[in-house]
Order: sequence, then C-alpha cells, then structure tokens
Amino acid sequence: MPDESLHLSVVNSLLERHAGSAGALLPLLHDIQERIGYIPDVAVPEIAHALNQSQAEIRGVISFYHDFRTAPPARHILRLCRAESCQSRGAEQLAAQLRERLQLDDHGSSADGHISLRPVYCLGACACSPALELDGRVHARLSAERLDALLDACREDA
Ligand code: FES
Repeated sequence: MPDESLHLSVVNSLLERHAGSAGALLPLLHDIQERIGYIPDVAVPEIAHALNQSQAEIRGVISFYHDFRTAPPARHILRLCRAESCQSRGAEQLAAQLRERLQLDDHGSSADGHISLRPVYCLGACACSPALELDGRVHARLSAERLDALLDACREDA
C-alpha cells in the first residue's frame, strides 16, 4: 500500500529525530499527526519498538488524549465550548442538537466524514456565550437556529 509505506517512512524519520530524548512519546505523536494528519495504525508497532514499550501502552496514550486522531480528519472541525459560562447559557442544548444532527456522541466524526466534533473548555468568548469554534473561527451568541445554519453551510461545502 503506497500510503502505508509513505506513513512508515515519515514515522521512521521522526523516530530518528526524537531518538534518545526523554519523554519523546508525546512530542513524537504530535509530530506524526502534524505531518500525516492523524496517527496511522501502522505507526504503533514502530513507536512501541523504538521506545521499548508495549503497543497497548502506546494505544492507551493515543486514546487518552482527545487531540490525537487515529483516522484522517473530517473536512470541518467543530469544537463546542463546554465550560461554565457556556454551560450556563445553553451549551448543553446545543450539544444535544449536535448529537442528534450528526448522530455522534460529543467526540467523533460524522459518518459522511464532513464534520468532526470535539469539546473544548473555554474559547475566551465567555461574555458572548454560548460559543463554538468551527475550522479555527469562533462563533458566539449561538442559538439553535445559528447552529443549524452553520451545519448546513458545512454540508453544502462538502
Ligand atoms: S466558557 Fe465558553 S467561551 Fe469561555
């Protein structure tokens, strides 16, 4: 598979770069995700071998940190704020709306691959809560209607 061998060569060059540094796992995983877009499964045995850890330990770290992806990213990344100010001003209803429209729990990618959903804890827009970030842009003073419009725009852009 061409992707697999390309991924392996990226992973091995990054392993060389991080060789010998203490606490290399997290920086290494971040670098792999930055270069490839996610952590491919083929990387796990290579990392485990190089760092003298078990594959289960490596998979445990990858699944513990929500920022790591194990599949290519969706076209759009939507991060709904779940911190206190947004929670007190309707974020839970918006989360329920997202779960229903995307058929997801609070963290994952829609089946059509258009939208990835992730929680975030404060976007610095507390005075205008509830808020979310869509593809790096903050949208505040959200309502159910505005959220629907943002989701419709993502789908049209697909
Ligand atoms: S609590 Fe949501 S933006 Fe700060």
